[in-house]
Amino acid sequence: MTGTVLVTGGAGYIGSHACVALIDAGYDVVVLDNLSNSSAVALERCGSICGTVPEFVQGDIRDRQCLDAVFSRHTVRAVLHFAGLKAVGESVAMPLEYYDCNVSGSLVLLEAMAKAGVKNLVFSSSATVYGDPATVPIREDFNLAPTSPYGRTKRMVEDILADWQVANPDWSICRLRYFNPVGAHPGGTIGEDPQGHPNNLMPFIAQVAVGQRDKLFVFGDDYATSDGTGVRDYIHVMDLVEGHVSALDYVCRQTGLHTINLGTGNGVSVLEMISAFERASGKAVPYEIVARRPGDIATCWADPTLAQTLLQWRASRDLAQMCQDTWRWQASNPRGYAS
Ligand code: NAD
Ligand code: WQD
Repeated sequence: MTGTVLVTGGAGYIGSHACVALIDAGYDVVVLDNLSNSSAVALERCGSICGTVPEFVQGDIRDRQCLDAVFSRHTVRAVLHFAGLKAVGESVAMPLEYYDCNVSGSLVLLEAMAKAGVKNLVFSSSATVYGDPATVPIREDFNLAPTSPYGRTKRMVEDILADWQVANPDWSICRLRYFNPVGAHPGGTIGEDPQGHPNNLMPFIAQVAVGQRDKLFVFGDDYATSDGTGVRDYIHVMDLVEGHVSALDYVCRQTGLHTINLGTGNGVSVLEMISAFERASGKAVPYEIVARRPGDIATCWADPTLAQTLLQWRASRDLAQMCQDTWRWQASNPRGYAS
């Protein structure tokens, strides 16, 4: 497939890797990002990886004039919509910012797409919409019960997209529910660069291994799991973005509303992740068991069958690769893009 793809949030962690996968697949890429949680350096590095720097527009998805200008300058075939705020704890403290950015921002984007006649959309949703599942693996038809304002913004946008597609059956919309993205491009030049204290496990482990933090705090060892620590479905970011290229191909071929998990189908505990990272990096990752983190669940992993059936996509990179690629990025860029 070819054509121009607008990538909102394309300077961010997943978006920057998506730019690489899209350019490699032959697409022209335009990125719209307000850089609230990212650096334009990531896009320059995408250019070094693929030989083409994505066109960059610094702007906000809530800025209708900015979006109209992008759509009038480019014949956009489809939009990959990554832009948004994503920290669960922050969303509890700042719910209005989350509803404004994630929900209002998506509405403005949809309106601008409708005006421009762009009808193909891939949306970044999250496994967080399932809340605490009754059973695992999690299928797409499971009950949705998000437990944070962040998760509720994702469910709301999912609902808006469903209503919009009913009203506009010639649109094609794919709602991708990601499990736990980790890892980095294997070249080690782009990766996850959290600002301040990392909320997620993998960047925290990487910062301990590289010596920026003394130890990891493991949030609880009394869950009903094999070793008592939380179990998640970690998915390599390169697998994740290859899944987006497949989803893009799928939405460009047919109309409809599609909802698809992107995960591996494997559960990994916190202690298993620490051991895997120590093996991959050759560094010790000291840790201390502390109390459970409020709102955490014991176990969460995907049933990835639908993605295999509809997209002919499945994750192929294993836990060792996730850790090796994270480590290569972290060791070469100990302070992220500011290094
Ligand atoms: P990220 O913060 O690295 O990337 C998001 C990007 O969007 C950033 O570059 C940020 O500057 C930009 N942005 C934020 N608000 C914007 C706005 N109003 N206008 C324009 N740009 C804006 O996050 P990520 O990990 O790459 O996540 C990408 C998407 O995937 C998000 O929608 C997130 O909710 C979703 N998601 C992420 C995870 C995860 O664990 N990383 C899991 C599930 C879903
Ligand atoms: C994983 C495991 C923690 C940090 C979050 C969001 C979710 C999605 C992905 C966006 C858990 C344990 C963690 C630490 C620890 N994001 N942990 N010490 O909570 O599954 O999902 O990111 O959509 O919405 O909620 O990921 O990486 O924070 O935690 O012990 O310092 O690691 O308790 O068991 P989570 P995580």
